[in-house]
Amino acid sequence: MTLAIRFHETGGPEVLKLEHVEVGAPGPGQVRVRHTGIAVNFIDVYFRIGRYPAALPNGLGSDAVGVVEAVGPGVTFLAEGDRVGYMLGPLGAYAEARVMPADVLIKLPDGISDRTASTIIMKGLTAQYLFRQVYPLKAGDTILYHAAAGGVGLIACQWARALGVTMIGTVGSDEKAEIARAHGCTHVINYNRENFVERVKEITDGRGVPVVYDSVGKDTFMGSLDCLQKRGTLVSNGTTSGPVVFDVTLLAAKGSLWITRPAMVDYALPRSNMLKMADELFDLVLQGKIKSEPGQTYALSDAAEAHRALESRGTIGATVLVP
Ligand SMILES: NC(=O)c1ccc[n+]([C@@H]2O[C@H](COP(=O)([O-])OP(=O)(O)OC[C@H]3O[C@@H](n4cnc5c(N)ncnc54)[C@H](OP(=O)(O)O)[C@@H]3O)[C@@H](O)[C@H]2O)c1
Repeated sequence: MTLAIRFHETGGPEVLKLEHVEVGAPGPGQVRVRHTGIAVNFIDVYFRIGRYPAALPNGLGSDAVGVVEAVGPGVTFLAEGDRVGYMLGPLGAYAEARVMPADVLIKLPDGISDRTASTIIMKGLTAQYLFRQVYPLKAGDTILYHAAAGGVGLIACQWARALGVTMIGTVGSDEKAEIARAHGCTHVINYNRENFVERVKEITDGRGVPVVYDSVGKDTFMGSLDCLQKRGTLVSNGTTSGPVVFDVTLLAAKGSLWITRPAMVDYALPRSNMLKMADELFDLVLQGKIKSEPGQTYALSDAAEAHRALESRGTIGATVLVP
């Protein structure tokens, strides 16, 4: 038996329950992983509240690191004792241990600690695919990135700096502004105090930006469109403030804009691509260009507290559950 967080109904953080669950031996193509760190991501909130569908009851979480403790038949590329991380596969990462399909596991390099790895698998691979695949950035580009002091945000700040990109980042407090700046964000706007559309126009001498990465959704969406140059791209990669419904004719009215709503799975698969993405991320970490540690940690049993903090915008950087 092992401890896991499960939910039997959708709702507030209180639906997250700590339960004893059976973790069997791995079957063909599977391994059993004992977690050392479990990342909390905003997508976990979307599942918990029912914005994304999940069969109930269910486990929660899709992003963790740990050690392989048993290998099922047919798995040749992993062995007991290997350190691994993942961010795809079935829900259920909020657990001390679990059985996972081997083909979503990524081996962790020796030079990256479990503590750091627990903050970068989903979040760093998200920055990778946003900046290097969805809208590939090049040195000299200027971008607008919302929630720059978040879990993905602090990695995005450093990745933008490494690429020679001028990043305009929005944040919800002056403390977050300072931290985003220290991670490489060039211009920081506190969008709770300042009009971010006006500030972006000022910073870019009225030109606007060619791309906005908007994970906030409802509250920022229209403003994000107004920050774009003609034929600019809105990458709508999350909806922390609520879902967006809009009239596509606005894209013509505001300058022949493009919009995309990317999902990790469509960029990370096939597995060979996920491993290339991970190599690129790990290289930047090993070179010291991306530094990442948990901004806050919670015991596994306090997952509900972690959700409360994340949803109330009380977290900075990555949030990690320690089993
Ligand atoms: N499409 C993908 O493949 C993919 C993958 C990973 C993550 N994401 C998305 O990326 C975003 C960041 O994820 P994360 O896990 O790193 O979370 P996070 O950025 O650490 O936390 C969310 C942040 O969003 C901001 N925010 C603005 N309005 C909010 C509201 N009404 N409620 C809560 N937060 C609000 C807050 O920052 P301020 O206080 O600074 O405003 C908050 O700290 C999420 O939207 C997530 O869904 C997408």
